[in-house]
Amino acid sequence: MKLSIIVAAAENNVIGKSNQMVWYLPEDFRFFKNSTWGLPLIMGRKTYEAMGAKNLAGRFNIIITRQKGYLKEHPDIQTAGSLAEAIDLAKQTDAKEAFIGGGGQLYAESILLCDKIYITRVKAILEGDAFFPEIPGDVFELTHSRIVPADEKNAYSMDFQTWEKKKHISP
Ligand SMILES: NC(=O)c1ccc[n+]([C@@H]2O[C@H](COP(=O)([O-])OP(=O)(O)OC[C@H]3O[C@@H](n4cnc5c(N)ncnc54)[C@H](OP(=O)(O)O)[C@@H]3O)[C@@H](O)[C@H]2O)c1
Repeated sequence: MKLSIIVAAAENNVIGKSNQMVWYLPEDFRFFKNSTWGLPLIMGRKTYEAMGAKNLAGRFNIIITRQKGYLKEHPDIQTAGSLAEAIDLAKQTDAKEAFIGGGGQLYAESILLCDKIYITRVKAILEGDAFFPEIPGDVFELTHSRIVPADEKNAYSMDFQTWEKKKHISP
């Protein structure tokens, strides 16, 4: 199973503020939905709460928390006590790809474990308190980029980038 990160980050790596998103970008929502549809989606407990503590339909939601009994039985959501446990749950679905969907803590913990990063670079410098880590250029290479200009529905232009782990990483 391929493990991928999916994220939207400002040019200064801000991804959120006060446990909320800092933009409304329907074009990015559409990309997120299309990319993750039908697949396991692993999220930190704070991101789950930032999304209104609801499962995202059409995806196998896995929420990571250290709190025992955080969610009572839920038909559409599983909880995991660690990243390794979450990845194991995702593997049990036989999906070819699973996603890490945030937030900042989870991205920092998983970036080096991931094979691929789908990052929407939001063309703005914004204030926030949750960040995406710098993508290590010695580990990942940019393999795709698609720029979508701002319009009446999307306040900022976006660069939909794909980064893939380099095949041969020098020691
Ligand atoms: N722009 C984007 O693409 C994007 C995407 C997602 C989220 N966000 C933003 O990111 C922010 C939230 O990020 P965050 O860094 O504050 O929190 P987070 O990563 O969403 O969640 C952190 C929580 O996850 C649990 N956790 C993390 N690592 C764990 C581990 N190894 N084992 C067990 N549990 C673990 C802990 O929950 P417990 O405290 O319950 O133990 C921890 O407090 C929000 O502002 C949100 O809007 C942005």
